[in-house]
Amino acid sequence: MTAAGGDRGRDHAGGAGGPGVNFRGELRRIFRDALSRLAADGVVAIPPEELPTLCDQVRETADPKFGDYSGTMAMALAKRAGKKPRDVAVAIIERLDVGDFFEKPTEPVGPGFINLRVRDDALARAVVAAVHDPRLGVPRVPQPEKIVIDYSSPNVAKPMHVGHIRSTVIGDALSKILRFRGHNVVTDNHLGDWGTQFGMILWGWKRFGDEASFAADPTAELGRIYRTVRKLADGKPEDLAADPGLAGLAAQYPDAGREVLLETAKLHEGDVESRGLWERFMPACLADIEKLYGRLDVGFDHALGESFFQPFLGGVVEDLCARGLARESRGAIGVFLDGDDKPPFLVRKADGAFLYATTDLATIRWRLDHWKPDRILYVVDHRQGQHFDQLFRTARLWGIADVELVHVAFGTVLGDDGKPFKTRAGDTVGLESLLDEGVERALQIVGSGDEGRGGAGMTDADRRHVAETVGIGAIKYADLSQNRTTDYVFSFDKMLQLTGNTAAYMQYAVARVEGIFGRAGIDREQLRAATATVRLADPRERALALELVRFSEALEDVEADYRPNLLSGYLYDLAGCYSSFYDALPVLKAEGEDRASRLALCDLTGRILRQGLALLGIGTVEKM
Ligand code: ARG
Repeated sequence: MTAAGGDRGRDHAGGAGGPGVNFRGELRRIFRDALSRLAADGVVAIPPEELPTLCDQVRETADPKFGDYSGTMAMALAKRAGKKPRDVAVAIIERLDVGDFFEKPTEPVGPGFINLRVRDDALARAVVAAVHDPRLGVPRVPQPEKIVIDYSSPNVAKPMHVGHIRSTVIGDALSKILRFRGHNVVTDNHLGDWGTQFGMILWGWKRFGDEASFAADPTAELGRIYRTVRKLADGKPEDLAADPGLAGLAAQYPDAGREVLLETAKLHEGDVESRGLWERFMPACLADIEKLYGRLDVGFDHALGESFFQPFLGGVVEDLCARGLARESRGAIGVFLDGDDKPPFLVRKADGAFLYATTDLATIRWRLDHWKPDRILYVVDHRQGQHFDQLFRTARLWGIADVELVHVAFGTVLGDDGKPFKTRAGDTVGLESLLDEGVERALQIVGSGDEGRGGAGMTDADRRHVAETVGIGAIKYADLSQNRTTDYVFSFDKMLQLTGNTAAYMQYAVARVEGIFGRAGIDREQLRAATATVRLADPRERALALELVRFSEALEDVEADYRPNLLSGYLYDLAGCYSSFYDALPVLKAEGEDRASRLALCDLTGRILRQGLALLGIGTVEKM
């Protein structure tokens, strides 16, 4: 599912959104007017609701020799009207009112491309406005929305593993980006704090829990119990063969699997002892995940876990039944979304237990009542696709309208072998040790940059601090720079490289760009205040300037499809434009106006790189 239909989430140029300009957004509007006139003049018939999609066919060009932007809709329109694409393109060009921002195109190129170039004076003005703008030239969305983002949402009391990092990191980046664009974002960590894993822990604790170990390290003890009970309940022969202690327990408790379910049911029914233990264990579980969030530097406005919604579940099922949406089937209750012969979306099991689905329905209702969102995004593994599909359809039948529900799905983290990422021993890799390893490895590259600038002046404490930022940044960025829907291979070697699209390269780029000012003793605030114009005579200056003012377009693209990799890709391209500029042209040694102008471009590049990385949740450092 993609985001906005119509004009929602699209940018303005200037005006209420701030001083920033989104040239592409402006151009799309110009095309929209032209296409409306084209239709009104009877050249081709265009249903008004198709206008936004047609205008989305105005995109940045890959090669400046085709201008800065190109509109390609003439081809599709001509085909439909049975006309020549070039003729339609000419008719569009005649109706383009390009205003002050663009050079008027003279004729179509090739089969019917309409290529446009931003006027140099407009580009220079946009750069200067961005230099003076705390938002770096990014306008606010014209129609801010209330957007709830449900992410991270681990099942507590189970050790978090590398898969959880994706939801956490992608959700955090999206919330920062949407907030920066001007939306009203509410983040919620829908903790799995009420599921079978607690049944396992309660059952195990009562049989072989160890008070002293719990006192010494609660999460280690709970983790031990969880892993043991999980293996007992699974009863895999290879697990039992590998561990005589486990085999002994298996002989002692042959019915562990069923007993665990009963234990879970007891907790859900409000059994006093079980509830007491749950309350005792929860703080330790939460402290454990908080520690990880601290290191990842992510936070939430709310963490309303599954347990919070328990009081509402009975009512949800009753209401669904009363409206004739859910009914009984072999003792259980479900919503038959795909006809009587297809499995229903179950909301109550035959033993009376409620399900993940029930909680999610109660959660939607609660969020609507309390937060009145326009959109709810669920940043969750693609393997839950069917759950969300059924959840959203049930919600619609239940009368949940006027809110967009989106499953922002992501793929699996793979190991070098192309299989889901595991340790050599075959266990899933704990997140904590993964972060530790990233930081350890980062320590080896810290200080290996430009001699005399990087490592030389650093104390051990500096190096540690930088390594934490670089190591954690590498792990986050590796994830964010992938197309979220594809699986990706987790490789420390790749993610810590100093070249290519990695966090380390980007962090290094920021340190280099910004290092100029320190070395030359230039006050950046003063530089900005004094910037009244920039010179874009050299093609590399112009290319950098154009890339700088495209920050808002990159953020707009992230929102359109909830893909943070469109921002990391943009930042990487920006760093590339900067290198071409900086390698070819003198900056500190330039003369007069060129010097001031180029320094202003450097300043804005550094700020946009830093801000862009911050929106991805990636920290930066002064020296590497
Ligand atoms: N706790 C679930 C899991 O770890 C994810 C929950 C996602 N959010 C939701 N509202 N269902 O698989």
